[in-house]
Amino acid sequence: MASAQEFPPLQNDLLLRAARGETTERAPVWIMRQAGRYLPEFRALREKHEFFEICRTPALACEITLQPIRRYPGLLDASIIFSDILVVPQAMGLVVEMLPGKGPHFPDPLNEPADVARLRETVDVNTELKYVFDAITLTRKELKGQVPLIGFTGAPWTLMAYMIEGGGSKTLTKAKTWLWKYPEESKALLKRITDICVEYLVGQVKAGAQALQVFDSWAGELSPHDFAAFSAPYLTAIDFGVREILEREGISPVPLILFAKGANHALGTLASISGYDVLGLDWVIEPADAIKAVGGEGRRVALQGNIDPNILYAGKEAIEREVKLWADGFKGSGGVKPKGWIANLGHGITPGVDPDDLKWFLECVHKYSAPY
Ligand code: CP3
Repeated sequence: MASAQEFPPLQNDLLLRAARGETTERAPVWIMRQAGRYLPEFRALREKHEFFEICRTPALACEITLQPIRRYPGLLDASIIFSDILVVPQAMGLVVEMLPGKGPHFPDPLNEPADVARLRETVDVNTELKYVFDAITLTRKELKGQVPLIGFTGAPWTLMAYMIEGGGSKTLTKAKTWLWKYPEESKALLKRITDICVEYLVGQVKAGAQALQVFDSWAGELSPHDFAAFSAPYLTAIDFGVREILEREGISPVPLILFAKGANHALGTLASISGYDVLGLDWVIEPADAIKAVGGEGRRVALQGNIDPNILYAGKEAIEREVKLWADGFKGSGGVKPKGWIANLGHGITPGVDPDDLKWFLECVHKYSAPY
């Protein structure tokens, strides 16, 4: 596995500094799903290759990861490895397909606890997910140090929910039924996923990832007490587990970002009980309230987000107005520079966005997050 010295030196560490809670000259910015269907160059490559084939082919995953970096030179401050959270259920032994226009589909989801026996008893992450590690190492080299490379995983609750629902769901009835009907079996499954996520994230750091993000996309579907019982302990275990192994193996720590979408009620708890460096936000909370929730001026965590992705359909004037509003919110009343703010959307960019409107959005972040 490659060691850090083999990679070209990093030229832009804005994201890493903001993740450490430092005051930066402007907010670093990256976009969830920045390598995605709104880009014609992505669609062109996607026409020729199946979704998971791209994930499994390091040269293709690398090419797609670099597409937005090439299109927006100097405007993006991070890249995120092209992959999907559902490669973990695949590694555990489930079949996952990506249906065009429909999204992920599990032909044989987990219907009842006995189905857990269908999963691999032990998962050798270094074999099953080696292709992700190879993609990261290749991309890190090809990035030539322009911006840091972010690795990621899905959170245990979100992954478990997909494994049970078998795809997207508006109500998550089946997954929630498991939690309430089979709490012990649910916790055992969550623990199993957690252990794999820890190994998977450590492997990504060893392969060259310079920051990590955990996506708990369905966190907001749980009541605060169910989130506390079925999601938060596993999120915390991932954070502590990754840090502990990196330290034990003498590998420098990297910033850990947690995006528990919709779980704004838990921001205070997550800031105090977990060790995540950055908490991601959706757009349903104002910056001032988020800052207050995580400890105010003296906060330990940095914040990431959180502009409604739909703003990108509303035209340049609305985009500028909205970015300025959020930037002012994160600068706070006293500060002229953003402290520990990583600008992003509050969820992934959607396929119909005009790439020029995203360019404008990025330019506005550069302009309005800098000191006046
Ligand atoms: O650029 C990046 O952000 C990196 C790549 C990335 C993808 N998926 C590529 C992708 C990342 C970080 C993800 C994470 C992911 N995948 C999440 C967590 C973030 C979130 O959106 O809440 C989830 C829930 C998934 C599962 C998933 N993958 C869904 C629900 C879908 C279908 C929805 C959709 O947008 O179509 C996918 C497909 C997917 N993953 C696409 C991309 C670019 C589009 C599918 C395609 O090309 O056919």
